[in-house]
Parts: sequence; C-alpha cells; structure tokens
Amino acid sequence: RPPLRLGIAGLGTVGIGAVKIVQRHADLLAARSGRAVTITAVSARDRTRNRDADLSGYEWETDPVALAVREDVDVFVELMGGHEGPARDSVMAAIAAGKDVVTANKALLAHHGQEIAEAAEARGVSVRYEAAVAGGIPVIKALTEGLAANGLRRVMGVMNGTCNYILTRMESAGLPYETVFEEARQLGYLEADPNLDVGGIDAGHKLSILAAIAFGTRVSFDAVALEGIGQISIDDIRRAGDMGYRIKLLGVAQMTGRGLEQRMTPCLVPASSPLGQLEGGTNMVVLEGDSVGQIVLRGPGAGEGPTASAVMADVVDLARGLRLPTFGIPAAELATPIPAQAAAP
Ligand code: NDP
Ligand code: HSE
Repeated sequence: RPPLRLGIAGLGTVGIGAVKIVQRHADLLAARSGRAVTITAVSARDRTRNRDADLSGYEWETDPVALAVREDVDVFVELMGGHEGPARDSVMAAIAAGKDVVTANKALLAHHGQEIAEAAEARGVSVRYEAAVAGGIPVIKALTEGLAANGLRRVMGVMNGTCNYILTRMESAGLPYETVFEEARQLGYLEADPNLDVGGIDAGHKLSILAAIAFGTRVSFDAVALEGIGQISIDDIRRAGDMGYRIKLLGVAQMTGRGLEQRMTPCLVPASSPLGQLEGGTNMVVLEGDSVGQIVLRGPGAGEGPTASAVMADVVDLARGLRLPTFGIPAAELATPIPAQAAAP
C-alpha cells in the first residue's frame, strides 16, 4: 500500500512530539499500519525558530490552510490550538479537500464539534482527536470503541493536570494559591491564557466532548456549569483534609430526568478514593457503563510524549482504514441536549 502522507500544522510541544515519533518509530508505525507513515510538509509561525527535531526533509508551508489542501497530503494534523482563525479554517479546508484530520484541539471541538462532524461525514472523511481529552489516556477510544455496547450512565474525572498540580502542591507544601500559581507559570504548566486552566474552561471543553460521545448528544460546551479553582484557599484544603476529603476540580456529566447535567467545579472527594489519591499533573477519567460497571483510567494528561502518543495512535487508526463517525454516531443523529438546570454543586 502507498505511504500515508501527513501534513503537520503546529510545531510546538505536541507537533514536535509527533515528528519525533514518526522519525523514531518508522518501522513500528509501518508494521502496525500496514503501510509507511511519512511527513510531506509542516507549518508553524516562525520558520527560523530552532526546534528540537530535524525538519530538513519536509517542505515548509507558511499558511496552514495551504498545507491542509496539498495534493500530496492524505492526513492533515492540526496541532496549533485555538478555536477560531487558522485552526478552524485549516481543519474545515482539509475536510472540504477530502483529507482526514487528526487534532489535539479540545477548544476547537468544544466550540465547533457539530459543524466539523457534519462537514466530515458529508465529505466521507474522518476527524480523530484522541489527544484532545486527557492527553495520553485513550479515553476517546474507550468510549467510542471499547464501551460501544454500553449505555453510559456517567462520565467524570480530573481532566486538567495544571489545576490538579496547583491543588495538590498547595496541600503538600502548605502554600497559598497565588504562590503555587506563580510556580506553575514558571514551570511552563499554564496555558498562554491561564484562565483556560484555572477557570475550568479547558477541562470544561474536554468534559463537553466526552458527554457528546457518551450520551449521543451534540457538543454543548455553553451548557457546562463552570467554576474554577482561583477562590480555593489553603484553609479550605486543610478543612477538607480534616474531614477525610481532598478538593479536586472534578468534571461530572450524566443524563438525568431533567436533562443533561455537565459541571466542572471544585468538589470534595474522599481522600481514600481513586480520585482522592490523584497527585500532581496526572488525569483520571471514570466511565460508568450499564454492562461493564465502572472503569477508571489514569495517566498523563499533557506533555510532549503522552500527547503525541495519542495523536500518532489516531494516525495509525487512519492508516489501518478505521473510519468512525466523529462522535460515535452520525452527526445528524446527535440529539440536541436539554441542559439540566440548577445542577447541584
Ligand atoms: P504550542 O503553543 O507549544 O505550539 C503551537 C504551535 O502552533 C507552534 O509551533 C506555533 O508556531 C504554531 N502556530 C500557532 N499559530 C499558528 C498559525 N497561525 N500558523 C501556523 N502555525 C501556528 O502548543 P501545544 O503543542 O502545547 O498544543 C497544540 C495543541 O495541542 C493545542 O490545541 C493544545 O490545546 C493541544 N494539547 C496540548 C497538550 C500539551 O500538553 N501541550 C495536551 C493536550 C492537548 P511557532 O512555533 O512558530 O510559534
Ligand atoms: N492545560 C492542560 C492541562 C493541557 O493542564 O491539563 C492538557 O490539555
């Protein structure tokens, strides 16, 4: 079979991670895909920037949209971020040009998931996004494939590693929020707009994507009840500890008699529970199916290697010819969810 040719837009943490896997694991990817996986061309803003990978064998495109529609690209890999502008334009252009798409961009899917899914399915191409939720944890595959025969009762978890780092560090070092927030900034953990992390928005994006797959509904990020961690004090954490609890930024999505409940808020969780024992930048997703019961997935939710691992797993699936509707069922059949009002905190 001919090679599967990638065009990668975005050469930051995740993009360079994906390039490194293509280079390091050429034989393994070819064996598992049944065909070679190659990179045709790449794109980023600054061509002169020194990056931690050899890009000399790839063509350079200044415009990600031009990259997305190249004839010698089979799969467009969007790793730029942002839900408007180049990310949305290039993904929509790739779909219109008949290319499959892989992205790690949860903001894009949370805001434009329905539009993207409808366009992809109308054009007969596939959009895959394992890296968008919980980084290296294969939670999208778990929901769309492994649990395909289950009615999903509930999806919950800790889906923002930065918030989990801040809360666990406040607790272990006895430091106030502001000090640990600054530490996280120095360590490079925070998004360029830190409110995406500490305001719960990034985790809310992820929860809304999981809820769409789990409950067969359109992505409805606007209906997620969001509360960030900025108001949590060291006293709150100590009092919770005295009662045997820890504070986590916890996402919960469930279908109730009142409609779809989605909330991403700081919660008390028993210290002895799996969620209560989650440390540092790690993520944990708990899936509850009517046949399987409860499944707990835990692992790295961010970083070059874990996120690129998920991106490249999607590429291998496409190389194998795996074709699934974006959110598990055809986009036209996704129901418009009724948001449950007054979700209990
Ligand atoms: P970075 O900020 O490290 O990299 C972004 C890349 O996109 C850079 O190479 C940048 O170019 C390029 N870029 C930005 N705007 C444009 C543009 N207009 N045209 C061309 N290139 C552009 O981001 P990350 O690698 O961290 O994240 C990429 C995606 O992966 C995001 O959607 C993010 O949410 C998602 N993600 C990230 C995770 C992580 O751990 N980092 C985990 C899970 C998901 P230049 O280098 O020249 O500035
Ligand atoms: N800012 C995100 C986090 C990156 O801390 O989890 C991974 O999506």
